Amino acid sequence: MRALLEAARWAPSANNSRPWRFLVAHRGGEAFTRLLGILSPGNCSWAHAASALVLVAAQTVDDTGRSRPWALFDTGQAVAALSVQAEADGCSVHPMGGFDTDARAPRVRPRDGTDAAGGPGGRPARPGAELPEPLAARERAPRSREPLEALMLTAPESPARRVA
Ligand SMILES: Cc1cc2nc3c(=O)[nH]c(=O)nc-3n(C[C@H](O)[C@H](O)[C@H](O)COP(=O)(O)O)c2cc1C
Repeated sequence: MRALLEAARWAPSANNSRPWRFLVAHRGGEAFTRLLGILSPGNCSWAHAASALVLVAAQTVDDTGRSRPWALFDTGQAVAALSVQAEADGCSVHPMGGFDTDARAPRVRPRDGTDAAGGPGGRPARPGAELPEPLAARERAPRSREPLEALMLTAPESPARRVA
């Protein structure tokens, strides 16, 4: 877990503002039970077996009250770094947006000006082994993404070029 958080800590951020915050809950502890309690039933059905749950938050407002427009982007990058580190260490991370956003505020919100940005759950290295259907089938299914060409935007032609 320390290596995962270290990877997140070194992520780049706008003006090096480092807006990410983490609440780590290991299975068996009270915080884990509380976090499990705010997950959607579908997520709860598999996340209960995770080694740890991590609530990820972004400070969208700085200490002087100024807005941090890149906070969610930056925090997503930190989570990406954390996830890659986890895979490199033989673990798995599964992001979850499916949790009760009203419940989280009074109970686990670290401080004002902070928004939760999705919580990854650490889980065993061989996902699917203990999952009930249809979740196991979802894990076995081929992963799908658009071809790269479908993601490419076309830049507008510059005026100089149009004149020529
Ligand atoms: C912000 C975010 C929220 C997500 N929320 C959930 C969730 O609540 N439950 C879940 O099972 N997966 C969740 N996922 C995982 C996505 O469903 C998954 O990445 C997507 O289906 C693609 O699957 P793959 O990465 O295995 O190819 C979430 C992913 C992200 C990035």
